[in-house]
Amino acid sequence: MQIAVACSYEAMSEIAAQEILKTVRKKPQSVLALAAGSTPVLVYEKLGRFHAEKECDFSKITTFQIDEYIGLSTDDKRSFFQFFQKYLFHKITLPLHKIHTPRGMAEDIALECQRYHEEIVMSGGIDLLVLGIGSNGHIGFNEPDDFFTAKTHAVELSEATRRANSRFFKDLDDTPKWAISMGIEEMMHAKKIMLLASGTGKASALAEALTRDITPKIPASILQFHQDVLVIADEAAAMRLSADIITERII
Ligand code: F6R
Repeated sequence: MQIAVACSYEAMSEIAAQEILKTVRKKPQSVLALAAGSTPVLVYEKLGRFHAEKECDFSKITTFQIDEYIGLSTDDKRSFFQFFQKYLFHKITLPLHKIHTPRGMAEDIALECQRYHEEIVMSGGIDLLVLGIGSNGHIGFNEPDDFFTAKTHAVELSEATRRANSRFFKDLDDTPKWAISMGIEEMMHAKKIMLLASGTGKASALAEALTRDITPKIPASILQFHQDVLVIADEAAAMRLSADIITERII
């Protein structure tokens, strides 16, 4: 595991964007699985700029959303699908059939999870998985639990996650209670994983995930088992990491 600490959110985003650029230049048909949320916003904006400036052609990539709220349609502005439309897809003009999203309005959610799992398998595997981390240690919407869930599944969101994400909704009551999330095994099969963390609110979760025992109580801790993980944290998120585990400092 490589752990890079960047001096700012901007620097963290630049390294992450460059890493994605490298992956897509090497393999234009890369399969990328991507987290939504505040942390990667600037990364996706940078990819849009790279595309506009013809530094890299993203039109051949395939994307998988890591999660989606149950009960929101794909045209709901608060859905993660719309998040990606806004920050990435319309900038890199990706055809719809290359965009994979769990359908939060599916009538049969169990079937939808199965369909999504099969799409992941059929894609030939994820080349690069871009993750954020919840302040409770979740990755995707794999919430702290007594066990890890392997495949795409419906998950009841924790109070902490709903509170954190209520900023995108009217209030806590309006915030979805359930989501569909890619499972841990599907994530761990990715060839490379990049975990981004920004801000003091992520410092404890990040330190526990990287330095404590692997446990489903801190879902991100499973990443210690993966052979190719790059963690990029800004200084605020890295403040609880001891100097000896940091592999690089980026100014
Ligand atoms: C969202 C996702 C979540 C977020 C996490 C951090 O697709 O996978 O795990 O990455 O909740 O969210 P932000 O970046 O908003 O702090």
